[in-house]
Amino acid sequence: MGAGASALVLDLVQHGYRSIDAVDLSAAALAQLRSRLGEGASAVRFVCADVREVCFDGPIDLWHDRATFHFLTTAADRAAYVARVGEAVAPGGHVVMATFSEHGPEQCSGLPVARYSAAALAAMFAQQFDLMHSFELDHITPWGTPQSFTHVLLHRRRDPIAAP
Ligand SMILES: C[S@@+](CC[C@H](N)C(=O)[O-])C[C@H]1O[C@@H](n2cnc3c(N)ncnc32)[C@H](O)[C@@H]1O
Repeated sequence: MGAGASALVLDLVQHGYRSIDAVDLSAAALAQLRSRLGEGASAVRFVCADVREVCFDGPIDLWHDRATFHFLTTAADRAAYVARVGEAVAPGGHVVMATFSEHGPEQCSGLPVARYSAAALAAMFAQQFDLMHSFELDHITPWGTPQSFTHVLLHRRRDPIAAP
């Protein structure tokens, strides 16, 4: 989610993964990603969509988001995101998410962002997901500035009745 033109999709394809949906609001970013992938682009479905409204062809085993969720700064937008994840990710599936941490910047690319602890992220998704792992890590930008990120791994419960 919010794939941009980043190297992750390239790495996944090179490691033999198929059935990948690369979703982004930006058609330009997806075009750049397609060009980077070359022939590997055939393993990827490019979806130009807003996460708040996106639909998938089938259940998602792994939802990955680095630095997209934190751009949603209203309760309504966050709720729409959480709902899309809940609809899309298969029971037993996982979410890997990285957002700015509580020590991270308050803006990115001139836009306001929300900042999260692992506990806050886990709480957002707690109705359907359990927190499996989390850590904070500084990302060093190309300009040498550290940006503190919170990373979480969430697991979707198979049985909603087992929810705490
Ligand atoms: C900071 S970039 C991160 C790109 C990539 N995940 C990475 O780590 O390099 C955020 C991406 O999220 C996309 N984005 C922002 N808001 C979005 C939304 N509402 N729906 C889908 N994509 C969105 C932007 O177009 C951008 O490509």
